[in-house]
Amino acid sequence: MAVPLLDLKRQNVALEPELKAAFERVLRSGHYILGPELVALEKDVAQFLGVKHALGVSSGTDALLLALMALDIGPGDEVLVPAFTFFATAGCVARVGATPVFVDVCPACFNLDPADAAKKITPRTKALIPVHLFGHAADMDALLALAAKHKLALIEDAAQSLGARHSGRPVGSLGLCGAFSFFPTKNLGALGDAGLLTTNDDAFADRATILRVHGMKPKYYHQLVGANFRLDALQAALLRVKFPHYADYTRARQANAAFYTQRLSQTPGIAPARPEDCHAHPNHHAAQQGRDPAPAGNRPSSHKITLPAACPQHEHIWNQYTLRVHGPGRRDALLAHLQSRQIGAEIYYPVTLDQQPCFQTNSRGGETCTHSHALAAEVLSIPIFPELTPAERDEVAAAIESFAKL
Ligand SMILES: Cc1ncc(COP(=O)(O)O)c(C=O)c1O
Repeated sequence: MAVPLLDLKRQNVALEPELKAAFERVLRSGHYILGPELVALEKDVAQFLGVKHALGVSSGTDALLLALMALDIGPGDEVLVPAFTFFATAGCVARVGATPVFVDVCPACFNLDPADAAKKITPRTKALIPVHLFGHAADMDALLALAAKHKLALIEDAAQSLGARHSGRPVGSLGLCGAFSFFPTKNLGALGDAGLLTTNDDAFADRATILRVHGMKPKYYHQLVGANFRLDALQAALLRVKFPHYADYTRARQANAAFYTQRLSQTPGIAPARPEDCHAHPNHHAAQQGRDPAPAGNRPSSHKITLPAACPQHEHIWNQYTLRVHGPGRRDALLAHLQSRQIGAEIYYPVTLDQQPCFQTNSRGGETCTHSHALAAEVLSIPIFPELTPAERDEVAAAIESFAKL
């Protein structure tokens, strides 16, 4: 049986009558940019996240760019970003003329390592952008302490993590601001590009609101040089149809993840990441002492595949279920094995950002990002979307089991 990595149609077509009604409502309103549909969405999301301000914007990328512009970050400034993430996190830093400084990530939860971040702070560092990757919160306690100590703005890249929690608190409500994406493949996906910027800081929210519309306030009077970061009323209206179902989508993803972990852990050579392998775990350093000299997070050579695991104080929302496949060439062999059975899988991300051609001259820090480099050679994401059927996830698990036995 063929199993897609993702099938957006299943979720959206199930809501066809409501989505069509939302379209007709917008069509007949004559109001197509920003407006009451967006204000209503912003209010709902702000309430869900427990933040004072939520600002709908054109994309997750633009939410990050707008945050950096609102902070007046530019040439001569440095911004700490993970080496292992989607391009936009660092691309926005370069777009405002600042220097991305690449920080290594935790090999267990894939998120920014606060200890490596601390080593890379200089008098030029103005901000840090932890990413809550694949639906799992970064080590926010340590990162917030680091930001406070060095007076850095903390911008959460929560593009993949709407509703993920750190010690009970939603991501995007913890730092100065949070950037969310509603790209169609995200856990809450629009039918086009859309994003959101959150904050509890009134002055920051004011600046961002003005910058969203070319720095204009009042109309045709420009206090700042902004850009067009507006969100369409139509995307807002469609998102409002989907938002009441979001808790169900999340539960389905969590059930799929629990199924894979429970089922695959029974195969010799496959095991979940140990909680103490996560840099954020209180016993991490003690647990590493006396281990074999393999890099932290790696297992003995008999160990073939590490399954992802949530750190104890986190609620994971599983934007991706990402395996680590150990041994030279083994990840690509598993990918080929799945492809030969028509099972969708994808490498997020095959090249770390410090190794991208565009960052060879205007960045630093990448040379010490050893866990990130190892992950780029080992990671593989498998189908986890909410509408995956029990038969489909069974097929995926069986294919991985057969690979592990080879
Ligand atoms: C970690 C991360 N940051 C930023 C973005 C940018 O979001 P968008 O695609 O909505 O611009 C994405 C989405 O692809 C992402 O995964």
